[in-house]
Amino acid sequence: MLEKIIILDFGSQFTQLIARRVRELNVYCEIHPYNHLPEFDESVKGIIFSGSPHSVREENAPSVDLSLFHNKYPVLGVCYGAQFIAQSMGGNVLPSKIREYGRANLSTINNDHELLKGLTDNSQVWMSHGDTISEVPENFEVIASTDSVRVAAYHIKNTQTYGIQFHPEVTHSLEGKLLLDNFLVQVCGLSQNWTPNSFIETTISDLQNKLGDDKVVLGLSGGVDSTVAAVLLNKAIGKNLYCIFVDNGLLRKNEFESVLKQYEGMGLNVKGVDAKQRFYDALAGLKDPEAKRKAIGRVFIEVFDDEAHQIENVKWLGQGTIYPDVIESVSVKGPSATIKSHHNVGGLPDFMKLKVVEPLRSLFKDEVRRVGKNLGIADELLGRHPFPGPGLAIRILGDITPEKVHILQQADAIYIDNLRSSGLYDKVWQAGAIFLPVQSVGVMGDERTYENVIALRAVESVDGMTADWCHLPYELLAKISNEIINNVKGINRVVYDISSKPPATIEWE
Ligand code: XMP
Repeated sequence: MLEKIIILDFGSQFTQLIARRVRELNVYCEIHPYNHLPEFDESVKGIIFSGSPHSVREENAPSVDLSLFHNKYPVLGVCYGAQFIAQSMGGNVLPSKIREYGRANLSTINNDHELLKGLTDNSQVWMSHGDTISEVPENFEVIASTDSVRVAAYHIKNTQTYGIQFHPEVTHSLEGKLLLDNFLVQVCGLSQNWTPNSFIETTISDLQNKLGDDKVVLGLSGGVDSTVAAVLLNKAIGKNLYCIFVDNGLLRKNEFESVLKQYEGMGLNVKGVDAKQRFYDALAGLKDPEAKRKAIGRVFIEVFDDEAHQIENVKWLGQGTIYPDVIESVSVKGPSATIKSHHNVGGLPDFMKLKVVEPLRSLFKDEVRRVGKNLGIADELLGRHPFPGPGLAIRILGDITPEKVHILQQADAIYIDNLRSSGLYDKVWQAGAIFLPVQSVGVMGDERTYENVIALRAVESVDGMTADWCHLPYELLAKISNEIINNVKGINRVVYDISSKPPATIEWE
């Protein structure tokens, strides 16, 4: 049986990071909001209480019934989690007199305790709290301190409950990973066997049990998530998986043909659908970015619905949903804060009445890539830059015509090919060319030209939430600009976007 750690989320910005670290140690874990407790069956081997932006001294501070966990499971309280346990057990938490934020060193460490085994003297940790535990109950022992924080770590005697007032999950806590490893292995007794291969094995067998001989329909986008989801489903149910890959006329140059070929090469039962004209018709004359997004979303659903109807007796809709989407919709803030708009104006399309199967819903993005690699999916596909669903429609400012799409595809291909050949593609998080609906004067030979502008965008980022523009070498930019202007008819000027996000965004629309 799959063993797991439950991380109770009290709202800290670092909760997902705790989960990442636990999984890097090959232990499966799940994040659950403190106010939506999951079922605690025998697969649960330990619990971590996260930090929180709240103070335990607030009137309605987030809280849980400790009797559900204490002395029943190993518990590690982190920051707010530690303060909450200490206060609930009769200790005292007060506002810190001095700033307890940033790097600190553990000046005393009691290495006899399993949690702190192997930590070195003066181990650097990272603190971030406005409150501090000023007093602990009698059955607590303080097992680590810094010069200014006496209760940096505590253990409740004769139990497996621990608290730490620093954040082991951030890299500034240099031995934080060792501490988490100690908690998982020494305290909880976990066997660290959750790996990409074990994930693949259990997922395939779970999918087989769940789906039996049922048919599943899945929309492929060319992106990592839908591809990995499809390959897993294909391994589980083979030809009962019906994949649909729609050409919306807004993909990169040759992308539809080459990606379709790759899918077929992977043995997927995939149907490529040329719906270019339907999308162009729906987009004709639309200038507003949101109107364009809505039109594309609507036509995609129509096309997909038409195709799904042709599959007799299909019961399931496969989706490449990943863990951050799942956590967001049940976060501490509640789903209302994050509801996404969708396009079911005239009632739900038929395929939305299907049951949903999401083989990747427990994985973070980098884990999806690792699983994909272990499934034998080509690096070229796994390492592709993110590409927005509405495609080139939000990289052509203003209205869309097939001619503009053609121009942008040529320019974008020159740009991306050059990034690849210069070895920079993998160092850039996302890159693309943008078609600007402004004309400027140029001169070619003896002729005056009056043509459009292409902007190049390349950003560094971790998750797309914030981004900085890449400092691409001038020589490379010069080469790309020359090639675009000399080869792409309709373009006589190329500019480079040097804006970061915020305040700009990655896409121009
Ligand atoms: P922004 O422009 O908001 O983009 O900084 C952040 C990331 O999201 C992608 N993006 C989209 N993806 N549908 C998508 O599937 C969209 O409408 C959309 N808009 C932006 C963008 O490419 C970047 O990776």
